[in-house]
Parts: sequence; C-alpha cells; structure tokens
Amino acid sequence: MNYGKAKETADFIKSKYARAVKVALVLGSGLGTFADEVENEIVIPYEEIPHFQKSTVQGHAGRLVLGEANGVPVAVQQGRFHYYEGYEMSQVIFPVRVFGALGVKSLILTNAAGSVDTDFKQGTLMLIRDHINLMGVNPLRGANDERFGVRFPDMTEVYSLEYQDIAISVAREMAMEKAEVDEMRTGKKQETHRILRRGVYCGLSGPSYETPAEIRMLRLLGADAVGMSTVPEAITARQMDIKVLGISCITNLAAGISDETINHEEVMETGAKVSATLKELLKRIIPKLN
Ligand code: HPA
Repeated sequence: MNYGKAKETADFIKSKYARAVKVALVLGSGLGTFADEVENEIVIPYEEIPHFQKSTVQGHAGRLVLGEANGVPVAVQQGRFHYYEGYEMSQVIFPVRVFGALGVKSLILTNAAGSVDTDFKQGTLMLIRDHINLMGVNPLRGANDERFGVRFPDMTEVYSLEYQDIAISVAREMAMEKAEVDEMRTGKKQETHRILRRGVYCGLSGPSYETPAEIRMLRLLGADAVGMSTVPEAITARQMDIKVLGISCITNLAAGISDETINHEEVMETGAKVSATLKELLKRIIPKLN
C-alpha cells in the first residue's frame, strides 16, 4: 500500500523535476539555509505533494527543494516530520520511501541535538558514527513490503564509513584553509581547529527535553548527543540500501550539564550561527558521494 503511494509521489516529483536526483538531504531545526545553495531550483510546498504531511514545527519550512548543489541534482527536505508531532512512523519516514522510489542512493540527515558529551560545546558539528534508538518504536514495525527491503535489515553500519571518511577529510581541508586565512590576516601562526567531531546520536521521542538524570543515563549508555529525529529515517534508508551520512549540530548542552535551561529559541539561534559552516561542508561533500 505504502509502496504504491511512494511511487505515486515519486512520479509527481518527476513530473516537476526531470533530472535524476542523486542525493537527498533532510535539514534539521534551524539548519534550513542550505536550501539557498541549490541552483536552478524548483520549490514544492508539502501541501502540494501527494501523501506528504504538513510541517508543524517553528523553524521547519515545510517544502521540498529540487535542483543542483555544486552541480549534483539533489532533493532537499526543508523541514521534516517528527514523531512527537503525532504522526505515525509511516508518515515520518514517508519522504525517505519517496527518495528511494526516486532512485536516490545517498541520504544526508542533519539535526539539532543536545550535547551529552561535555567536550562538545554549543555550535559543534558532530558526525554521527552510530545511533541508539530510544524512541520506543521502530519505523519498520508492521507488515513488510519486500519491494522496500528485507524484514530484518542489518544495522551494523547505518552511517556509511566511506561517507564518514569523506566528511572528515572535507572538514580537515576547511579547517586548514581557515587557519591559513586567519594567519594571513593576523600575521600569527594559527592553531587548526576541528570543525567536525565524531559521536553517537541517541534518538528519543520528545517533545519534552530530558531530565538531568536521563542525561546521566544516556552518557552511561554511550551517547554523545541527544535529539528527537534522524533515527527513523536512517533505519528506513538502510532497509532500502540507501547510504547515510548524519550530521548533528550541537545547539545546547543537554539538561543538567550547565545551570542553563533549554529552549527551542536557543536551539534555533545556534543552528543559524553554524549554518554557514554546515552549508560549506555539505556543498563540498555532495559531489564526493557515490
Ligand atoms: N535534547 C533533545 N533534543 C534536542 C536537544 C536536547 O537537548 N537540543 C536540540 N534538540
């Protein structure tokens, strides 16, 4: 049933955009500006896309942007569907099903996340090396349509190691360039700062943020960052044999790490501050994915 719907939506998108989409991106809270990088674009509001839901969260635009990023045909989901909004998991993951039906082989998932690892400060970009699913549900629960993929998909390498290597080498190159520019400007030798750190993302259902006790628990479990998305889309993509790259923007320290309380406005503000770096990183990574 969903397979037919995904095909129908993919056909609708193909009728609007003729080029074969290579890479799909999902932009997280406050991280929507990458869509500005897309050239020769066509923009479709979610309301106009068959079987898509509407985005209800502030900071999520709710539109699909198709066009070229650094020469590569991409589909950019500006705004995602979260489980906490009350959607069924099948609705949360529907866009990924559509990307699969479009023939997309690479998916970049971005999100805003709280830092569980005290070394990751506000504004850190974290390359997701693995995830822990604590959402209380699995997006593949229910009847399986083998046309999407197998009943019991392997999750040994959800986040492609090859893609992780590409992201790290691009980040290194950017960090070195930045140090060089700073050195020329100041006349002083500059330290190169890392702009991407690797870590484990833990997905919870939300929408309340965590308690300090929950954050201590997550640290013991091996999580470095915590958020309310990404895990369902990543699991679904792997079932469909789509390779995944995940990047979290650490927008705040998780509950109890500092005396500060957490609010959505702060999450959005930090997202906006790092968006230029994230944009450049994504732009350079995309042509290297295969
Ligand atoms: N917890 C969960 N989700 C989040 C957070 C957080 O601290 N920050 C941004 N998304």
